[in-house]
Amino acid sequence: MKTEHKTPVSLETLTALCKRRGFIFQSSEIYNGLNGFWDFGPLGTELKNNLRDAWWQDMVRNPPLGPDGEMIDIVGLDSSIIQNPKVWAASGHLGGFNDPMADCRESKSRYRADHLMVYVPESGEGTAFAFLEGEPSVAEKRIKKKAKSDPSAYKVVPYNELDPALIPTVWGPDAQEPGTLTEPRQFNLMFKTFIGAMAGEGDENTAYLRPETAQGIFINYKNVVDTMRVKLPFGIGQIGKSFRNEVTPRNFIFRSREFEQMELEWFCHPDEATKWYDFWVQTRLDWWESLGVDMRNLRRRDHDEDELAHYSTACADVEYQYGFTAPGFGELEGIAHRGNYDLSQHQEASGTKLEYFDQETNEKFIPHVIEPSSGLSRGVLVLLNEAYTEEFVPKGNTEGGPLLAEPGTRPPEGYESRVVLKFAPRLAPIKVAIFPLLKNREELVNKAKDLYADLRKTWPVFYDQTGAIGRRYRRQDEIGTPYCVTVDFDSLEDDTVTIRDRDSMEQHRIPITELRSWLQSKLV
Ligand code: GLY
Repeated sequence: MKTEHKTPVSLETLTALCKRRGFIFQSSEIYNGLNGFWDFGPLGTELKNNLRDAWWQDMVRNPPLGPDGEMIDIVGLDSSIIQNPKVWAASGHLGGFNDPMADCRESKSRYRADHLMVYVPESGEGTAFAFLEGEPSVAEKRIKKKAKSDPSAYKVVPYNELDPALIPTVWGPDAQEPGTLTEPRQFNLMFKTFIGAMAGEGDENTAYLRPETAQGIFINYKNVVDTMRVKLPFGIGQIGKSFRNEVTPRNFIFRSREFEQMELEWFCHPDEATKWYDFWVQTRLDWWESLGVDMRNLRRRDHDEDELAHYSTACADVEYQYGFTAPGFGELEGIAHRGNYDLSQHQEASGTKLEYFDQETNEKFIPHVIEPSSGLSRGVLVLLNEAYTEEFVPKGNTEGGPLLAEPGTRPPEGYESRVVLKFAPRLAPIKVAIFPLLKNREELVNKAKDLYADLRKTWPVFYDQTGAIGRRYRRQDEIGTPYCVTVDFDSLEDDTVTIRDRDSMEQHRIPITELRSWLQSKLV
């Protein structure tokens, strides 16, 4: 049964909830933060770890059956963040991992030049007006007020594709007059560091924080083949931090300078690469759906040739309709056909043979690679967007269950509002909350604490004895706890407890002796 399609939550609402409930904090907040960096709080850490573990389980330990219905093999890796700088020369990142940027000399604002759009007069005469992609209103107002014209008399051109002769005529988005934007220039996104005590800028000890986990896999390809008795096709998966010195980090954890990736490099025979590419694109869409992401919020987008990264011959993105992109979509995962680019580059640069010898066919070749590359931090943002729900729930004696509410609207008579994060139980940061009905009745508290002590051996469990039961439910709803268990006076008599379901809000009783196995069956 299809549920109603929710209105996407705004970034402001989500960011505020994440801070209020301990999911995500601004990094270095007590020092006014640091642009592009975020810290995961207690609940965000649990959520991120659950997503990470789900990927590892479903991709590395127990991957799906391949396109022919056969089992496939994937092994794991954890390579270092700082690698020999020659890795980045060979991979092309030193030369080509750039974004174009432009500065405003007047406002001191810095822009991604490919995210800056310009209204250019069709007539070729007069001032052009720049705006940030998706935010044309300031430029449109200026066209009407300053140029006494209409936006329909203008064409839109990305700033980095603008004829340089027109740059002095462009009015920057934050400027008070035209002609203050610099020409676009290329900016390498890798963070530099220096290895060793005597090292200094410019010396040969310059190293880089990895901008992708993928290269750690390519440079260990031979180690894995030599030690793990893997045969083509096979995959190597890795999860870890990557760093990109983004020109304009924005949209909360969507584009940050330090983030985590979940990457699989799938090595195969060149003749089979297209088959595996199609397989992985579909498999990855299916995986996100299996985590409860509404397919109406996901789409596949194939890259045009001029968008392809320097290493790829084809790429499809799995895109999600975030609150800040709606009704449009933004990237969540890319599945790239990297051909034999990386292994060939490393073979040539290192002088180490990275060919695969197929003993059955006596063939020697450099494998082709299909790479499903997913952002773990972005995945967390998707789970939060997807889970966030505002509902009207019946008060007191009002009949019925929760109703989906338009965010920010007031409840009808007999109802009150609740915010609930509808995480799949497998991903919820806290699985169960335990409440004694009253905190001043020792026998209830003792029994609830015994239950808490037992269940926390297995799951993340929250104990709460403060406030009315209804308020305790609401607190758990807002952090996405799927089940609340209450110990009441009947529990003292018959050793049963009440389980309350987060989504339906229905309750039922169950013997304490059956609680573990009941939870086990639900928390998958
Ligand atoms: N390895 C692909 C990426 O980091 O985007």
